[in-house]
Amino acid sequence: MKRSPIAWIGGKQLDGEFILKFIPEHVKIFCEPFAGGLSVSLEMLTKGRICRKLIINDLDTNLINFWKAVKDNTFLTNYPIITKFETLEKEWEKIKSAEVLEPWQFFLKSRLCWGSAVNKQTATLSALCFIKNYHLNNIPKIVKATNLFNSVKTEIHNTRYDLLKQEKDTFYYFDPPYYGYEGLYKYENFNYLEFNNYLRNLKGKWLLSMNDTKETRRIFQEWNLLEWEKGYSIRGTAESRKEKGKELLVANYPLLIKEKNNVQ
Ligand SMILES: C[S@@+](CC[C@H](N)C(=O)[O-])C[C@H]1O[C@@H](n2cnc3c(N)ncnc32)[C@H](O)[C@@H]1O
Repeated sequence: MKRSPIAWIGGKQLDGEFILKFIPEHVKIFCEPFAGGLSVSLEMLTKGRICRKLIINDLDTNLINFWKAVKDNTFLTNYPIITKFETLEKEWEKIKSAEVLEPWQFFLKSRLCWGSAVNKQTATLSALCFIKNYHLNNIPKIVKATNLFNSVKTEIHNTRYDLLKQEKDTFYYFDPPYYGYEGLYKYENFNYLEFNNYLRNLKGKWLLSMNDTKETRRIFQEWNLLEWEKGYSIRGTAESRKEKGKELLVANYPLLIKEKNNVQ
């Protein structure tokens, strides 16, 4: 089920349930250093699998300000319900090239431009027409996310993943930019060798999502690897089938499937 209110490039909207099969049943502290649309964290919270604390982080400031507003329950207070297309068009003129976005502007833009194209100017007028009705459909997901964030202690950070303070009893789920696709995000460089070194020094268990390529298999060869196909979820909806792609799960513990599913 899609739990995130935003559509984020590289998001795990269709894969949350699958990924959770490889995460310990209950974790004291769950940390997602590359938050994006937070599909896996929201799935963990929905299933009640985070006991004490959720720590989320992303380098993208507009995205993080959006999540902070969702957590503090200020998002909806400041959210203008726009029903007229002309009003939307005017708003669009203001936000389409703005560097800094209000949380509601970020949300609106994320529904207009797919994924983190939010940081680029790729939305079209036809997308704008479409969103007139569509963006409101995601409001219930925002309300749900507010409640979920407040069901545990939630910390939200806006820094580089490697600057996050490490805490005992933390399980990390990493979903960094995929190899070869770093340019899709606002901060275009990502050093995979440095990231692998960081993983070597990390205390506690971690799971990483990565695309399955010769290079990624070489970089992460010292860990446990499991190949799978994106969208090859338990349900296998028509939508998920369209999104199939070769994926790797990488972890510092054995990747065992806990229950029967259709991974081959
Ligand atoms: C693949 S997306 C995460 C998708 C997310 N799992 C979801 O379900 O929507 C990767 C995220 O990493 C962020 N990012 C890129 N480089 C980063 C860095 N050095 N430190 C922290 N975040 C970074 C990007 O802004 C982007 O939101």
